[in-house]
Amino acid sequence: MRLAGLALAFVLGLSACQNEPVASQEGGDTGSALVLGFSQLGSESAWRTGNTRSIQQAAEKAGVQLMFNNAQQKQENQIKAIRSYIAYRVDVIAFAPIVEDGWDSVLSEAKEAGIPVLLCDRMIETSHKDLYAGFIGSDFYQEGIKAGHFLLKKTNGQIRNYRIAELSGTAKSSPMRGRYEGFREAIAGDRRFEIVCSLSGDFLRSKGKQRMKQILDSYGDIDVLYSHNDSMTLGAIEAMEEAGVVPGVDVIVISVDGEQGAIDALKAGKINCVVECTPLMGDKVIDLAKQLAAGESIPEMSYNEERVFSEYDDLRDLAPRGY
Ligand code: AHR
Repeated sequence: MRLAGLALAFVLGLSACQNEPVASQEGGDTGSALVLGFSQLGSESAWRTGNTRSIQQAAEKAGVQLMFNNAQQKQENQIKAIRSYIAYRVDVIAFAPIVEDGWDSVLSEAKEAGIPVLLCDRMIETSHKDLYAGFIGSDFYQEGIKAGHFLLKKTNGQIRNYRIAELSGTAKSSPMRGRYEGFREAIAGDRRFEIVCSLSGDFLRSKGKQRMKQILDSYGDIDVLYSHNDSMTLGAIEAMEEAGVVPGVDVIVISVDGEQGAIDALKAGKINCVVECTPLMGDKVIDLAKQLAAGESIPEMSYNEERVFSEYDDLRDLAPRGY
């Protein structure tokens, strides 16, 4: 059954979107190895490539046969990849949904085929909770809250107004929504703060830089930059420096992720706070996939433990971040 499926998936993969069986076994005999189909949304950031590496390494370590696909930032590619995993009859499907909406139909197909689905990193919006077995990733709303709490601490006791510019992530994605809402919740009621603009940089460094130039050109002086990920922040820092604005001093910079480049910028005083969002969840993804393949139920929501790095911390002994 699988052998025929493998041929089909391979054909679909080639024509649709680069399915790459990472740990395939030659001769078509998959033995008893768990087969996991994983659809990654793209490679927009160091976070994302770190996430991919973590999942691939964990699968290899655990002897799990991973069918991996990079959807290149397109939901339609993720849907095609999931369909190819259904055709192949993998044991478990996992995917990082680029946006929240639009999954019901393909997930109903997986359900009908009896294949459990694990959501990784990002959440979906659906009224049919039985379309997925569980979620593993970060609490994006809490990340937004933590970003707001840092701003309250940093500005504590200051009697003045703060103009905030926000660089938001991919529209309609769960990290964008959570970080947007959590931040507003944390600073609500403090009349010193005004969010003067919220522009999407799509989680990309190049767009972060572009949007920051636009902000500096069109919105006058700003006091705070709240950016939904490090890639955009690093781009924005370049734009500020080119415009003669000193990041971390002229503008309070708050970022999310904790990639090495941002931690280095924090240590250099160009970022004031980085809220951690870890991509290193490969081992957990594989453990949950194993439980699902064994017919066990898993928690609906599993959140990674994460911290906040800021200018108030001594980061000299911080281990290399790995992403
Ligand atoms: O979904 C997690 C987010 O996606 C990370 O914050 C960001 O860097 C990535 O693109």
